[in-house]
Amino acid sequence: MFSINSIFVLIVGVAAVLFDRRIQKSLVNLPRVFCNAMSVEAIAGREERCLDYIRTNAEQGKPQSVLDAIDRFGWTQEWLMNVGETKGVILTDELLKKQPKNVLEIGAFVGYSGVRIGMSLPVDGHLTSVELSNKYAGIARQTVDYAGLSSKVTIVEGTVSTVLKDYVQSNGLPPFDFVFIDHAKDYYLSDLLYLLDNSLIAPGGIIVADNIIYPGAPDYREYVNGHPERFRTVEHLTKLEYSEKEDMVMVSELLH
Ligand SMILES: C[S@@+](CC[C@H](N)C(=O)[O-])C[C@H]1O[C@@H](n2cnc3c(N)ncnc32)[C@H](O)[C@@H]1O
Repeated sequence: MFSINSIFVLIVGVAAVLFDRRIQKSLVNLPRVFCNAMSVEAIAGREERCLDYIRTNAEQGKPQSVLDAIDRFGWTQEWLMNVGETKGVILTDELLKKQPKNVLEIGAFVGYSGVRIGMSLPVDGHLTSVELSNKYAGIARQTVDYAGLSSKVTIVEGTVSTVLKDYVQSNGLPPFDFVFIDHAKDYYLSDLLYLLDNSLIAPGGIIVADNIIYPGAPDYREYVNGHPERFRTVEHLTKLEYSEKEDMVMVSELLH
C-alpha cells in the first residue's frame, strides 16, 4: 500500500517536525538575556508591551507602583535592559545621600531609571535624560508621565556630544551634580571625557555607571580607576537586571 519512498518521506517529515519542536523549546529555555541579544526581531514591540503592562498593572501617579510593574514585566514577561530593582537600590541610595538638584542620565530606554531618579529627587531637583532613539524617548516620556513625574524629568532626544551643550545653555542649567551613565557601553568613556572637557559635571558630583561587567565597559573602568586623584570610586559587585548574571555598578565622586 505504501511505497518505500512515501514511508521515507513520512519518516523525514516526522523527524523534521520533532527536531523543529526541540529547537523551539531550547530557544524558549535559553536565558532571556541571551535571547534578547540574539534577535532584535524576536522582541519587536517589547517596549510597547511594557507600556501597556504598566497601564494595566500600575497605579497612575504612583512611581513605586510603576517601577514594580516594570520589574514584574522584566522578570515574568520579557527581559528588559533597565537598571532593575537590585542595582536600582544602589542608584537610589546615592541619590538620597547626595540630594542632587541637577541630574543627567544618558540612556532612558522605557523610562524605568527616569522614574526611579525622578521620585528620589529633592523638591527642587530635576533630571535631564538624553536618549538616542526617538521611539524609546517617546515611550520613556509616557512612562514618566504615567508615574506623575513629567515636571521633574525631561527626556531629550540625541546624544551627549550632539545636543547636550546647546540644551544646557538654552535652559541656563548649572553643571550636573549627579550623572547616571547607562547607554552604549563603548561610549561611556568618550562621553565622560566630553562632559569633563566641557565642564558639564560639577566638582563633587557623583557619577554612577551601570553594566561595568555585563555587557561591560572595561575602558571606562580602567580610566576611572587609573585616575584616583580625580575620582573617588566604589565598585559594587551585583547582579544583572532580571538575571543571576554578575554585573557591577561603579559610583565615583568627581574630586575636582
Ligand atoms: C540600558 S538602556 C537604558 C536603561 C535605562 N537607563 C534604565 O535603567 O531604565 C540604554 C539606552 O541607551 C540608549 N542609547 C544608546 N546609545 C546612546 C547614546 N549614544 N546616547 C544616548 N542614548 C543612547 C539606547 O537607545 C537605550 O535606550
